Amino acid sequence: MQELLAILPPGSREYEVARSLDPARLPAHVGIIMDGNGRWARRRSLPRAAGHRAGVEPVRMSVETCARLGIRSLTLYAFSAENWKRPRTEVETLWRLLHYYLGREVAHLMENNIRLRAIGRIHALPKEVRRQLEDAVAATAGNSGLILNLAINYSGRAEIVDAVNALIEEARLAGALDRLVVDEESLASRLSTAGQPDVDLLIRTSGELRISNFLLWQIAYAELYVTPTLWPDFDRLALLEAIAAYQKRDRRFGGIEAVHGAPVEQGSLIGVPGPAA
Ligand code: FPP
Repeated sequence: MQELLAILPPGSREYEVARSLDPARLPAHVGIIMDGNGRWARRRSLPRAAGHRAGVEPVRMSVETCARLGIRSLTLYAFSAENWKRPRTEVETLWRLLHYYLGREVAHLMENNIRLRAIGRIHALPKEVRRQLEDAVAATAGNSGLILNLAINYSGRAEIVDAVNALIEEARLAGALDRLVVDEESLASRLSTAGQPDVDLLIRTSGELRISNFLLWQIAYAELYVTPTLWPDFDRLALLEAIAAYQKRDRRFGGIEAVHGAPVEQGSLIGVPGPAA
């Protein structure tokens, strides 16, 4: 918290909202569906690519803010498995932006002890993109601060299917297929976010009321926060306001008493770390 206050102008709205936060009740894991780049561009009569380019700064800001707040995991939905349906030129723009972001930011991730993870079917990405991502993941693997999960070619359903298949394959190799019993703990331990807390706060920009196949398992008890702000306009104040709104929610996890922070037995912090990518 102090690390964030140190960079905010005292007296500013951001400073006041940050100061009002309860450091003991921060979300352990924030997920963001970054939406509205296309509409942001259209409103300015610009090509869609301009909206995606303008979306890089809120990515940097969100990573820095979560790291300075001491949040444990941040997952950003950068490219869904369904986004391949977009025109090839738009998909290529997104790869170029990822290349630009990684090229510029890995040093910053290292300085700030941030560990990058790539979640999704990374093996199906263009070779150059995959290699750069894998290098960035490897370079930051020893960092112990914020875990930044970039969801790329990601599908929540595919992730669950892959986890089930991994359990089946392991049991088959161990000659124990006939005794295989899948439970919540074993399944969660094969997800790409294994070892990380479930999502506490899920933010979606641009006002759409959809989950869009994002972290289906991990958001079971997430608090949802939808803002009409388009992603390129999502600034630090908007993020801090989302966290402040989260802190006002009563989280009961199906019970009747409010619980502050996720109950560990509900799937948080279970499992073993998954593969590096
Ligand atoms: C959704 O807006 C946004 C995306 C599919 C891409 C997100 C990409 C970025 C924020 C660029 C930078 C990312 C990284 C990780 C460096 P949309 O295009 O669906 O918007 P629309 O619904 O208004 O058309």
